[in-house]
Amino acid sequence: MDVASIQVIVLSFVTLVTMAANSKLEPLFSDELRYTSSIDQVGNLKWVQGGEGTIVTLFNRIQRSQITKDTAFRLFPLSWELQKGMYPNDVKLNFHGEFQYSLFRDKFRVPDNNMFTPAWVTSCLIEASMFGKSPKPSQRQIDLALNAIDKYRNHNKPYKNSEMTFWHQKLNRTASYYQSSPDNLFEVLKMPDYLPQKLIEEILSFMGLDDIEKVLEKLFREGNMFFQAFHIPPDFDDTFVNIGLGGLLALATDRGDYSESFQTWKQQNSNLTSVFESVKKYAYRPFSTTSNQTTIDPRTYMYLHTFLEQAEQNGQDVALISTWIQDTVEVVSLFDKGVSMPFNVNNVDITVSANFIYGIIMCTCTKVCNQPDIYIDTDIQQIFMNTTSLIAHELKTNLSSRPDLALTY
Ligand SMILES: *[C@@H]1O[C@H](CO)[C@@H](O)[C@H](O)[C@H]1NC(C)=O
Ligand SMILES: *[C@@H]1O[C@H](CO)[C@@H](O)[C@H](O)[C@H]1NC(C)=O
Ligand SMILES: *[C@@H]1O[C@H](CO)[C@@H](O)[C@H](O)[C@H]1NC(C)=O
Ligand SMILES: *[C@@H]1O[C@H](CO)[C@@H](O)[C@H](O)[C@H]1NC(C)=O
Ligand SMILES: *[C@@H]1O[C@H](CO)[C@@H](O)[C@H](O)[C@H]1NC(C)=O
Repeated sequence: MDVASIQVIVLSFVTLVTMAANSKLEPLFSDELRYTSSIDQVGNLKWVQGGEGTIVTLFNRIQRSQITKDTAFRLFPLSWELQKGMYPNDVKLNFHGEFQYSLFRDKFRVPDNNMFTPAWVTSCLIEASMFGKSPKPSQRQIDLALNAIDKYRNHNKPYKNSEMTFWHQKLNRTASYYQSSPDNLFEVLKMPDYLPQKLIEEILSFMGLDDIEKVLEKLFREGNMFFQAFHIPPDFDDTFVNIGLGGLLALATDRGDYSESFQTWKQQNSNLTSVFESVKKYAYRPFSTTSNQTTIDPRTYMYLHTFLEQAEQNGQDVALISTWIQDTVEVVSLFDKGVSMPFNVNNVDITVSANFIYGIIMCTCTKVCNQPDIYIDTDIQQIFMNTTSLIAHELKTNLSSRPDLALTY
């Protein structure tokens, strides 16, 4: 038996406990739906059976799965924290290496509460009914999601704002600061602590692995890595998906739908200046002379340096939307308060960029911010135009041999 085998035992224990807890949740997609879609010969997804019937079945299932009451996390027997208004979604971890790990890749999943899922699912439901043949979600269904999303604002700012955080912020009284972390996942990562440490130590020393400290550290390093990385600041991805949702509700209002939900969204997002100020403050400006504007993580630089070199050759300036609403100066003091970007440095991510472009378009083409002069000045215009050019450049650049650079966030 070696360290890897012990790790497998610990992971098996954690996976079994989480599987038992998950078995109490209703499965979202059961077998009856699996055979309703298939891939045809040219690779397109096709609805084999049902057609509209399938859409209605899916619609009903999504509606039924929405969580209608808060549940707190409990350890014995394990039950998850679930927040009212959420749609079910899981964290999966990419276990790789030893053969036995494929089991954990398959079976290990932890239900999560985050802002992105209800915002995205609600947007899809509204679009599917507005532009397709899907049934219309009820106002209650929309409002449940809006009220859930409303809890994911940046509470560390002393004013009303629409800087959204992926995970719910909770006040940490020791740090006197709000921190954003995946609660269910953190509880699961703590589980190995409940295994009798004495027993593990005795097994290890029986096997002649005397440097127990080192072995245990190796065993739990992955958990510690998540504990460190997942104390995240608000981000522009969630922020602009929320603004896009506001834009969709505004469009729906023009067609006589969801006007009350749109009013709710507007009241909840009454200070959009907070977003546009931050976009300008945290933009990546590689040709600036201020170091906190020119600092970016190396993976980002690796994939976009050809874009920057071209711009420099053409004498063009560049300003791009970043991922995190934090910079390298702030992280120095906020790290100890439990709010820090992963790797302590910001990045530019193409999927975040796409959601930024989407949010700006939904905002300026609807009642959300169609008094453009207030929000859209020449700097925002530049960030919008340059981010669009970057997306176009990356679409033309074949980086398929570097999947590690595909999602930098
Ligand atoms: C709106 O946000 C800005 C920061 O961009 C802040 O200075 C201002 O006080 C906020 N306004 C209100 C009414 O909270
Ligand atoms: C970046 O650094 C400059 C100079 O140190 C400072 O004035 C500015 O507030 C910083 N920007 C942010 C977003 O913290
Ligand atoms: C509160 O924050 C401090 C500093 O970041 C951290 O060490 C501590 O673990 C946090 N407590 C909880 C309960 O998260
Ligand atoms: C960025 O936008 C500015 C202002 O619109 C423009 O002058 C510049 O050429 C753009 N840069 C690139 C690389 O497209
Ligand atoms: C992209 O690069 C990969 C390997 O680097 C290659 O296999 C593939 O054919 C390329 N695709 C295109 C469209 O050039």
